[in-house]
Amino acid sequence: MAAAGKLTIDDLDVAGRRVLVRVDFNVPLEDGRVADDTRIRASLPTLRALLDRGAALVLVTHLGRPKGRVVEELRLDPVARRLAELLGREVRKVDDVTGPQARAAAAALEPGQVLLLENVRFDPREEKNDPDFARELAGLADLFVNDAFGTAHRAHASTEGVARFLPAAAGLLMAAEIAALSRLVNNPERPFWALVGGGKVADKLRVLERLVDRCDGLIIGGGMANTFLAAQGIDVGASRVEPDLFDAARAVMGRAGERGIPLLLPVDVVAADRFAEDAQTRVVPVEAIPAGWMALDVGPASLDAFAEALRPARTVFWNGPFGVFEWPAFAEGTRRLAQVVAELDAWTVVGGGDSAAAVHQAGVADRIDHISTGGGASLEFVEGRPLPGVEALADTAGGAAARHG
Ligand code: 3PG
Repeated sequence: MAAAGKLTIDDLDVAGRRVLVRVDFNVPLEDGRVADDTRIRASLPTLRALLDRGAALVLVTHLGRPKGRVVEELRLDPVARRLAELLGREVRKVDDVTGPQARAAAAALEPGQVLLLENVRFDPREEKNDPDFARELAGLADLFVNDAFGTAHRAHASTEGVARFLPAAAGLLMAAEIAALSRLVNNPERPFWALVGGGKVADKLRVLERLVDRCDGLIIGGGMANTFLAAQGIDVGASRVEPDLFDAARAVMGRAGERGIPLLLPVDVVAADRFAEDAQTRVVPVEAIPAGWMALDVGPASLDAFAEALRPARTVFWNGPFGVFEWPAFAEGTRRLAQVVAELDAWTVVGGGDSAAAVHQAGVADRIDHISTGGGASLEFVEGRPLPGVEALADTAGGAAARHG
């Protein structure tokens, strides 16, 4: 698997070596168990390949945002248990990151054995990308493999700093993510349509500005669509809008007009009388949201229009839900959109935790060509920003030129 100019595990001789693998096992926990193991499963091919080739593994990940302190609920014991089940072999877990327990356990590793360090963000030096801490991490192994695409946009000691002290290569998940997103950014088959949803324009403005310059059609949905509608003078009732971004929204729409590409917004919505799971609802055109009501999902006429517009697409990128899809009353729009995307005769990429969850809930995940494990990371990649965790890996002879167009 090529990783656009970066060394991968296929370039390393790992037999008999200890390999420090940065994984992104930032998974939801419920009642002391892993509630969604998608991210753990996503790194299994890398871990299995390294183990099959005779490596011993020292795994490092963060979980949540403990802000440099030990937070009991964010210990990695449930993650170690789930990983052991999935790998079908013992996973030893220690209670420190680079302390005496970790050092002794790493030193004692035999080929084929797996060690999981404690939550790396318990150490305040991780997010500061402290070089001493990076050196301590590097001291636990002979080689470094980064498979944590979801955290590649963070310049932390375990993602970026450590790569200065060890030969550093991409894992298979990292390589697959880079390959898919590079193709999307640099070489999409056309027409290329982008679907951007989610709650706030502020979170997605940069990606919208980039996409409107590159795609052949743009669909904007979710809570952020209200800001675009309001910026055109449409009364969206009590829907949440970002008035300070009306100009930015108009600029995106203006740019689409200049380039002569379609920019579609919802034409109807599921309106609710309050922001609540059991609110009263009504499907209305966007111009007819009753006073005091708010748009919480995209409506059926919009979905028909989106499906029609998307039919000729050959490449589709989708990020962000088109409604408050965690509430069943407002999940239908996002679920139907997932089905529309899955049925297209196009190469499809879905990025972001919520949209990825939506394609799984809709039962169409196996018909999406690439579901990114990265939310923020995939957005930053599409924005064209270099990801520190990727940049830090060793270049192949071809080098960095392959990655960014
Ligand atoms: C994610 O879940 O997006 C990644 O694991 C990164 O987590 P962070 O936003 O806390 O850095």
